[in-house]
Amino acid sequence: MGRKKMELKITRKNEGERGKLPEDESTLGFGTCFTDHMFSMYYTEERGWHGAEIMPYHNLVLDPAACSLHYGQMIFEGLKAYRRDDGIWLFRPDKNMERLNASADRMCMVRIDPDFVINALKELITIDQRWVPHSEGTSLYIRPTFIATEPFLGVHPSTEYLFYIILCAVGAYYATGFAPVKIKVEDKFVRAALGGVGFAKAAGNYAASLKSAEVAAEEGYTQVLWLDAQERKYVEEVGTMNQFFVIDGTVITSPLTGSILPGVTRDSVIQICKSEGISVEERNLSIDEVIKAIDDGKMDEAFGSGTAAVITPVGSLGYKGKEYKINDFKVGELTQRLYDTLTGIQWGKIEDKYGWTTKVC
Ligand code: COI
Repeated sequence: MGRKKMELKITRKNEGERGKLPEDESTLGFGTCFTDHMFSMYYTEERGWHGAEIMPYHNLVLDPAACSLHYGQMIFEGLKAYRRDDGIWLFRPDKNMERLNASADRMCMVRIDPDFVINALKELITIDQRWVPHSEGTSLYIRPTFIATEPFLGVHPSTEYLFYIILCAVGAYYATGFAPVKIKVEDKFVRAALGGVGFAKAAGNYAASLKSAEVAAEEGYTQVLWLDAQERKYVEEVGTMNQFFVIDGTVITSPLTGSILPGVTRDSVIQICKSEGISVEERNLSIDEVIKAIDDGKMDEAFGSGTAAVITPVGSLGYKGKEYKINDFKVGELTQRLYDTLTGIQWGKIEDKYGWTTKVC
């Protein structure tokens, strides 16, 4: 049975109550500077998706029995909008919606309509456009969030959902900005096993990573590099980014086996490499091969990729109590080139021959 097309209601905050960006955008950091409005819509079995509305940013009201709070049926996305000379642009929102629906399938949640949500997102950004920062390296981070809301303590897929989008003006994810980070190879804790939910952007994956990140931080590391859960042999991904190694001129990253996140930036990096004639391989890479390449002087450079992390150079790996420096803890040539190309496309300084960017307003 076809359902009626959903309307988008818009309720704006009074001009006098609106906030503004900090004067000094270099203080933005990541994840705290929220805008004036948000988008939300609801799902029930009787009504399908309904109640789509852009309204002032507000606290949520949830039943304490809402099942996401108990069993973690909760997923999210992360994408960005950029202020350019010719307006505000989004980067590959279709890929994020595709991944959101893949996460929803895995977590037994109801799919959203990507076109409807992207249009609502564009409306939301247009209303809050004053919040898109201006300085180089800054952007508007977009957090689509999808949670199960049925008040029920039995374990089953929820019959009710809330989907919402909040916006946040951001600078660099890491306090150090675009500079090499120290990564600890995690050989005790694991993030995700094959057959689990590692490929989904499930909130629980991040909760599961906190202990390891906390221990690593105490030891002076920025993030951890996860190894596969079965053998602790193959490198998978870093806490908030996919990982790339450049060995003997070839860019290598883990294949999408099911336990790692299919990053949109990861995919973009691979496509840029292929199109620029840079040798790139998606293959299993053991930690032993990584360490041997460093010892043999064949590890040219290493970097991570992610929406929040963009391209982040990796300056050293800590593994089994030993420290392995990469490229003398300097930003590698290829890392810099990929960063410049990717951000050049995002900020409209380089022609987008891939059709990745889409104008908002
Ligand atoms: C992103 O890069 O968008 C992420 O979701 C990583 C993180 C901030 C959780």
